[in-house]
Amino acid sequence: MKRLGVNIDHVATVRNARGEVHPDPLKAAIFVKKKGADSITIHLREDRRHIRDLDAKKICSIKKLNVNLEISTNNNIVKNALKIKPKYICIVPENRSEITTEGGLNLLDNKKKIKKIILKFKKKKIRTSLFINPKIKDIKLSKEIGADCVEIHTGHFANLIKSKKKFSNELMNIKKCSILATKIGIEVHAGHGLDYKSTKILSKIKEIKEFNIGHFIIGESIFFGLTNVIKKLKKIIKN
Ligand code: PXP
Repeated sequence: MKRLGVNIDHVATVRNARGEVHPDPLKAAIFVKKKGADSITIHLREDRRHIRDLDAKKICSIKKLNVNLEISTNNNIVKNALKIKPKYICIVPENRSEITTEGGLNLLDNKKKIKKIILKFKKKKIRTSLFINPKIKDIKLSKEIGADCVEIHTGHFANLIKSKKKFSNELMNIKKCSILATKIGIEVHAGHGLDYKSTKILSKIKEIKEFNIGHFIIGESIFFGLTNVIKKLKKIIKN
């Protein structure tokens, strides 16, 4: 059964725009779970531009929520995450000037550092995932450094579809990586830039077990509401 992870970072973006308390990310986390989200994703960025430490702490303290905390390899962020103790961790690259996470991790250059971080979370029985580009060498490296899961960066794929360009090569890359990862015992997730159309195409890859979707869900909910958008996505990933 494929799972839907709902990224609620942009609920915090709207809240922060006013510097007040509404809309509350904690309330959003509980609400999306009620509406069918299998997990909740939050990204504690180094600049705290959306989710803040207190949000992460409160959301992760609710035991019934399966929280996937995205973090960079920054030492302070890792320390915070170990204290916050989410159920799942996804390590992502982070660059201050980017609007959103622009690509997967550079595993080759950061092998030692990431391996050490993974070990720290494993000791606390926290499932660890690495956000990577759809490249065979990154799947092999993920295994070598001990990741439980990989999340394949689907941003390029999603952009090709949005701009009505040929996407078969990128789809094949994602498929090949998903097959290899599954074969060597790594669970496969997918995320970034996904909407109904791109999710529908990727849902045909049986090896992808989890989709993490944020911006589209929050944006589309302005018109159709979280309940309807989550329901529609759940239906898409089930088929
Ligand atoms: N997965 C990861 C690892 C991410 O960093 C992000 C963006 O924060 C997402 C999924 C969600 O991407 P989007 O908001 O484009 O759906």
